[in-house]
Amino acid sequence: MVNAPARWFSRPAARAWTCPPAPPDVPAFHRTLPGYAPTPLVELPPLAAELGVERVFVKDESSRLGLPAFKILGASWGIYRALCDKYRLSDVPLSRLRAELGPVRLITATDGNHGRAVAAMARLLDLAADVYVPYGVHPAAMAAIKAEGAALTEVAGPYDEAVRVAADVAAADPSALLVQDTAWPGYERVPQWIVEGYSTLFTEIDEQVAAAGAAPVGMVAVPVGVGSLAQAAVTHYRSGSSKPTILAVEPDAAPCILASLHQDKPLTVGTGPTTMAGLNCATPSTLAWPVLRSGLDAAVAVTDTDAAQAAQDLSALGVSSGPCGAASLAGTRTALTQRPAAHINTIVLLNTEGQAANPSLP
Ligand SMILES: Cc1ncc(COP(=O)(O)O)c(C=O)c1O
Repeated sequence: MVNAPARWFSRPAARAWTCPPAPPDVPAFHRTLPGYAPTPLVELPPLAAELGVERVFVKDESSRLGLPAFKILGASWGIYRALCDKYRLSDVPLSRLRAELGPVRLITATDGNHGRAVAAMARLLDLAADVYVPYGVHPAAMAAIKAEGAALTEVAGPYDEAVRVAADVAAADPSALLVQDTAWPGYERVPQWIVEGYSTLFTEIDEQVAAAGAAPVGMVAVPVGVGSLAQAAVTHYRSGSSKPTILAVEPDAAPCILASLHQDKPLTVGTGPTTMAGLNCATPSTLAWPVLRSGLDAAVAVTDTDAAQAAQDLSALGVSSGPCGAASLAGTRTALTQRPAAHINTIVLLNTEGQAANPSLP
């Protein structure tokens, strides 16, 4: 366990690193989900003026497949691939999957959004779900998980402890399928599928930026918890022709990627309370770490006050964001004071959750 690192890290050589892309069939799978539509890419000229670049877009995940966060992109593909794998199925459409399955109980730990996404997929597939939450998860987020029909258990500890409890429960139940959005040694296949699921968000951005007639993305800001979403961002942009700066943004109360980058090895950090509940993670995913170590340009930590100001500013511009979603803008503001946006024309901020996902505590 280490103390808080310096709040800024940069690795200019990351731009030259390359890796294989996500599988191409993920967006087609998402199009089969009831209610699928690309989320909006909203242009915000006042932010472009403030940040000193040509164009700023917000990828607005405040309403994704009926939920107030992006997470269902990963949970849906992860659960689909894991069930197909468990029951040795191939090419079964999601609508016919349930008929092929025996008894299955989906199990996960979450600080809010991922658990709700797993619960929603369980409801769609008519499966049971058990969701474990650490302390600090907003009561409204817990109520939303229960409203999807999942059983919810509060764990008296931080996120890593909730993950351990969920993994232990799953190991003791032959009908259980652990659907965790972070990896550790020996548990890598499901989290890799979840990361692949996030790729749709980036293919949508490519199409939307091109349709807006904007220059290729020069910088993308990604809110980071265990690093799985950032792993998907690095995989997308380091396997393609555009080479944007990729910025990871963490709460200063839980900067596990920043600390790991500074020490050049994956570390568990001490965490404290933060309004950015979805980013309150102490340990990088073991799958994400090597990808982020090689392919991330920069990482920054922001305070709850920075995130709250950013959420207020986005709201004034008509975009609903929770503290995790607004972290992208807060982190970009901090990063551009370290390194001005020379040569960057287009910035994309990932607003990964709406206000409804994670309302600030009263
Ligand atoms: C709203 C939101 N944004 C970003 C993240 C970060 O994702 P990851 O844990 O994959 O880094 C999360 C994770 O739960 C989240 O809920």
